[in-house]
Amino acid sequence: MSYDLVFTSRTGNTRLLAEEIRRTLGENDCGYFGGPEGANLSDGPVYVGFWTDKGGCGPEMEAFLQSLHGREVFLFCTCGFGGDPDYYADILDRAAAHLPADNRVIGRFACQGKMPQPVRQRYLAMQQAGDPQGEKMLINFDRAASHPDEADLAALRQAVLPKQEG
Ligand SMILES: Cc1cc2nc3c(=O)[nH]c(=O)nc-3n(C[C@H](O)[C@H](O)[C@H](O)COP(=O)(O)O)c2cc1C
Repeated sequence: MSYDLVFTSRTGNTRLLAEEIRRTLGENDCGYFGGPEGANLSDGPVYVGFWTDKGGCGPEMEAFLQSLHGREVFLFCTCGFGGDPDYYADILDRAAAHLPADNRVIGRFACQGKMPQPVRQRYLAMQQAGDPQGEKMLINFDRAASHPDEADLAALRQAVLPKQEG
């Protein structure tokens, strides 16, 4: 069955996930692969991915999600802060809330994504100014630097592949 992949990605992390989904589900069945603007969808499931912007999916993706009707939707994202499943769940819940009720969420996935180096400089300045948050942010930044990694991609493959019956 054909499917579509619609995603936003400023620095490439979410694009890596989108490419892994396409490899996993098969390139030939992929109808549309690209950004939400002007997305030309087939009528199969839609895999919707976004980078986390202020805890949400960003205005462009919000509008796209609001425009979907009668679809099976798989939501995925990357975010700078990692390691807390509740944090991931909240981001995905906020995105899912933009979907009209006649859609069905068939799966979800989130993982950490590396951030640009200037962000580290900001955290370093916070730490040097004695802000206790600075140290925490630096630790998180350095932890994010290797993500999405192979383990993230393996977990993503598990999440998108159809479940084997008992
Ligand atoms: C302007 C801006 C806002 C961001 N806001 C958040 C946020 O609220 N929460 C978070 O966990 N990460 C946040 N991030 C980090 C990105 O979501 C993360 O690095 C993501 O993996 C980037 O994905 P991309 O490479 O596909 O663009 C933000 C990054 C930028 C540039």
